Amino acid sequence: MTKYKILEILRNNDENFISGELLSSRLGVSRTAIWKGINSLKEKGYKIEGIRNKGYRLTYDKEDIISEYEIKNIFSCKELGRKIYCFEKINSTNTYVKENNNFLKHGDVIIADEQTRGRGRNEKIFYSPKESGVYMSIFLKKNIFYDSLKLLSIASFLSVCKAIEKCTGFSPNLNWNDIGINEKKICGILTEGSFEGETGRIEYIVIGIGINVNNLDFPKNLKDKNTSLRLELNKEINRTKLISQILDEMENMICNKKYISNRKKILKEYIERTKIIGKNIEIKVMNKKIIGKVIGINELGGLIISKSNKKLEVIYNGELKICEE
Ligand code: BTN
Repeated sequence: MTKYKILEILRNNDENFISGELLSSRLGVSRTAIWKGINSLKEKGYKIEGIRNKGYRLTYDKEDIISEYEIKNIFSCKELGRKIYCFEKINSTNTYVKENNNFLKHGDVIIADEQTRGRGRNEKIFYSPKESGVYMSIFLKKNIFYDSLKLLSIASFLSVCKAIEKCTGFSPNLNWNDIGINEKKICGILTEGSFEGETGRIEYIVIGIGINVNNLDFPKNLKDKNTSLRLELNKEINRTKLISQILDEMENMICNKKYISNRKKILKEYIERTKIIGKNIEIKVMNKKIIGKVIGINELGGLIISKSNKKLEVIYNGELKICEE
């Protein structure tokens, strides 16, 4: 696309001016095409100065503009993100996938700068303000099995943790169903699947990842339980780098033939990170409350709970609270 070719030339020209004429002859397009390209870059948030008889220059290279171009510039995936659809505003990236699954291809990624109806687990809303977080859905059609749904969430949680570590040098806490810092949540994942009615075959899976990255504030009702990387680490985090690192980590973990046979390795890493085994917990599943001690995680990623009546119960989803010793 012309606009990104223009951007590349402006970037390589440091902060010097380059004339519209030179741009058009270097790219072999009309002056009008250059003018349109410049305007469209400005609309996307790039700060470009244009002076008559001098030309154009990039005054401030705002790094955190989420676009397919910027992400592909730095990531090295082969299977995930062959196509990345970026939206400035959308209701929910997971909902978009569900509504457009017929034309999406395996590995496609949908990212939004803002969600107006971000969805969380158990019908909750995932707060998704503009220019603050990572709201991303990954569409998978290959190598998926009914019993790998939970495993995919686990692999995604591990990928997000590793990506945060690589991008910030900080290790967040991996809890059972979210990632947190200092007892507050920074990331949640909503994995959904569509099943063929008759056969139960999985048609596709969508992994929806939501991370509070650069939020400076939260609404009153969320303040106590949520925080962002920026609030905790006291610095702005580049979302483009974080997204591309997550995709790299995910691809390493789930896009290879060994993925299913690596299940034990993935679970082992998860168990080590969650430090949940041996903890007394309370889990709310729908209207039921289960109290007990975690004694293990099964092959599918379910928590094995030993209840006070000594009976065992395996739980795959629910709101978990670790009880004080
Ligand atoms: C949770 O912790 O409850 C899960 C939150 C998942 C939020 C992400 S943001 C991207 C994707 N689109 C959605 O509507 N939800 C997921």
